[in-house]
Amino acid sequence: MKAKGWADYWTRRAKAEGWRSRAVFKLAELDRRDRLFRRGGRVVDLGAAPGGWSQYAARKVLPGGRVVAVDIEPLEPIAGVHALQGDVTREAVLEQVRDALGGSADAVISDLAPRLGGNRDFDQARSMELAALALDAALALLRPQGAFVTKLFQGAGFEEFVAEARRRLAKARLRTPAASRRASRETYLTGRA
Ligand SMILES: C[S@@+](CC[C@H](N)C(=O)[O-])C[C@H]1O[C@@H](n2cnc3c(N)ncnc32)[C@H](O)[C@@H]1O
Repeated sequence: MKAKGWADYWTRRAKAEGWRSRAVFKLAELDRRDRLFRRGGRVVDLGAAPGGWSQYAARKVLPGGRVVAVDIEPLEPIAGVHALQGDVTREAVLEQVRDALGGSADAVISDLAPRLGGNRDFDQARSMELAALALDAALALLRPQGAFVTKLFQGAGFEEFVAEARRRLAKARLRTPAASRRASRETYLTGRA
């Protein structure tokens, strides 16, 4: 199947199953492999809009759990998800996330991606900054052995980030879900605090 046909398959399937985004199938695969969530758990979703990952996380942790979702864009309400609108590079926004969580996190998941500006080097640098921010936020918010996921793009800074994540996390591995576009440089790092 051509790359475009493959992408369309996930988009069509997301629509048919009531998910906000095709990205949900990436998270579902990471969860199947690394068991990211538990019923009653607290989850932080960084870069959550339009909301597929938050829908999935809510389904896994509710009832009894909590999902705090944050994005610079507005997020249409999702039952059981506490949505915050703000820029995660601002310390005050991360403080709001911490307050809304009400305790340490069992999982911090980040699908943060900058709006692409066309300059590949600049876009790559911004992607790596967002991944570094997600790692810092995760280590500040997670309980010991809490789960971490971040989106990464292969390119400048990638190897250094992975080495740093391996140093700072108890466990870290790279995973490329089937629903990631075949031609893209996208991959995910999953790990444990
Ligand atoms: C690939 S999308 C996330 C898709 C989401 N996981 C889903 O399942 O619907 C990346 C998101 O990161 C958000 N984002 C990028 N930079 C951000 C920032 N500095 N603060 C908050 N959100 C940001 C974008 O607005 C965008 O909605």
